[in-house]
Amino acid sequence: MEVAGEKGRVCVTGAGGYVGSWLVKLLLSNGYKVHGTVRDLSDEKNAHLRKFEKASENLQLFKADVLHYDTLKAAFAGCEGVFHVASPVPATKVLDPELELITPAVNGTLNVLQACLEMKIKRVIVVSSIAAVLLNPHWPLDKLKDEKCWSSKEFCRKIEVTILIIRAFVSISFLVK
Ligand SMILES: NC(=O)c1ccc[n+]([C@@H]2O[C@H](COP(=O)([O-])OP(=O)(O)OC[C@H]3O[C@@H](n4cnc5c(N)ncnc54)[C@H](OP(=O)(O)O)[C@@H]3O)[C@@H](O)[C@H]2O)c1
Repeated sequence: MEVAGEKGRVCVTGAGGYVGSWLVKLLLSNGYKVHGTVRDLSDEKNAHLRKFEKASENLQLFKADVLHYDTLKAAFAGCEGVFHVASPVPATKVLDPELELITPAVNGTLNVLQACLEMKIKRVIVVSSIAAVLLNPHWPLDKLKDEKCWSSKEFCRKIEVTILIIRAFVSISFLVK
């Protein structure tokens, strides 16, 4: 991500959210040029992003929805790296988990990965959740959870866990040095 001492340009999806905001702030303070995606550019809840140090020169916000492929491509243009953070994180129980959670999480992630491929992004970091591995009743309690341990869809449906997010591409990257 660094060419001849210059930090690259990266995109953060869900820039206005909790994790996304901290990430944007960190990237800006480390000298990266940042594209941030939000769903509503005029929403006051995203106003804090423009107040970050170096935001005026190095932050560009894009209106994008992970379910709208072309909006992602526009936001990724010119970037070397993408941090995919955007995902529905409901505070309360949702009525239709399949529609409100699973579809945006899974199809949104697939859209992001496909757009990254098309836009020739060099590195993609997908933020996952502990929910992806925690809810597996068959995993021995004394065994460390690793890439072989995934939450059981059947178990989650049974106990009505609506925050099951299937993000199979768990990845942590140390892009920020
Ligand atoms: N918070 C934590 O401690 C934590 C820990 C581990 C993992 N995570 C994971 O990190 C991710 C983000 O969590 P968070 O706590 O930052 O949640 P958050 O504050 O609710 O942020 C979620 C972001 O995703 C965006 N988003 C939702 N649906 C979208 C869509 N269809 N298209 C584009 N953007 C969409 C939201 O945009 P709008 O504002 O427009 O709704 C918001 O910016 C989740 O996958 C979560 O599981 C969080």
